Amino acid sequence: MKHTHGQMKKIKIKDKFALFDEVWTPKIIAESNEQLVKLAKGDGELVWHSHEDEDEIFIVFKGKLTLQFRDGDVVLNKGEMFVVPKGVEHCPLAEPDTHFMLIEPATTAHTGAIQSELTVTAKDQEWI
Ligand code: NI
Repeated sequence: MKHTHGQMKKIKIKDKFALFDEVWTPKIIAESNEQLVKLAKGDGELVWHSHEDEDEIFIVFKGKLTLQFRDGDVVLNKGEMFVVPKGVEHCPLAEPDTHFMLIEPATTAHTGAIQSELTVTAKDQEWI
C-alpha cells in the first residue's frame, strides 16, 4: 500500500495491526523527522543485538513484551513504553499475539548488526 506520508490522513492503529500476521517483521505506518513509526507483532524471542547509534522506542498495545538486558529484564504491558538507549544490548521476548509500536530512525535495523534468520533488512520493510 502507498504510504500516507504527507497526506494528512489519520491512522487507525488497530486497523493497521489487523493487516498483518507475521511476527518480528516491523511494518512502517508513518514517518516523522527521519524517524519511522512501525508496528510489529511478537511471539517468543527475537535475537540479542544492539544499535550503535540509535535509541529505540517500544510501546506496547497488546500482550506482554519483555525487554531482556544483560543485567535484568524490563516487562512492558499494554500501555507501557521504554526507550532502549543506543549501544545497549537487548533481546525482546514476547507472549504470543503481542502487538507493539517501534519508533526509530530510518537507518535502524531491527536486529542491529546481527544477521539472523529473523532479520528483516531495511529495504524489505514495507509500508502498510
Ligand atoms: Ni533493537
